[in-house]
Amino acid sequence: MIADIQEILIDEKALEKRVSELGEKITKDYRGKYPILIGILKGSSVFMADLIRKIPIPVEIDFLKASSYGAEARSSGVVELETDLSMDVNGRSILLVEDIVDTGNTLNYLLNRFESLGAEEVKVCSLLDKPERREQRVIADYIGFEIPNEFVVGYGLDYDQKYRNLPFIGILKREIYE
Ligand code: XMP
Ligand code: MG
Repeated sequence: MIADIQEILIDEKALEKRVSELGEKITKDYRGKYPILIGILKGSSVFMADLIRKIPIPVEIDFLKASSYGAEARSSGVVELETDLSMDVNGRSILLVEDIVDTGNTLNYLLNRFESLGAEEVKVCSLLDKPERREQRVIADYIGFEIPNEFVVGYGLDYDQKYRNLPFIGILKREIYE
């Protein structure tokens, strides 16, 4: 598994430090708001688990599954909602928790959707941001790290469902997906 990694981009220590900082900021901003943190499966699962333990105020959590990727390292541009929320978001403050914003297609779709479902406020916290590849004009409110235009895996992110369990963010060797 680790033999498929070209370079470790963000190691465990750096992830832990940044996730704590994001948690502190979110804690300050969301005091008294009782938000629903919505994790976008499966990529955000590891980030979500670490992040919520750095937010010591009342929050609810939920998950949905959206995808614009098959077994490809490229976005198809078409977003599909595979599993919907189990909660009513009407009148609620929503914080979407994403692994990475790439083209922005997924976020654009979800932001529109939650607004049309009557959410009072919808914000986004993404661990990673790949601004070079943006197709939609979306900006995450909280960003862990800006990264170059490389395909990365680990800490929840996959290629063809593998590598999610790596404890760091690493650049995948091109020969694996080309
Ligand atoms: P869009 O293009 O809609 O994509 O902003 C967001 C989703 O695409 C996946 N994605 C990646 N997954 N390594 C991955 O493992 C990457 O470098 C990468 N870039 C995009 C991811 O699922 C994200 O939620
Ligand atoms: Mg994702």
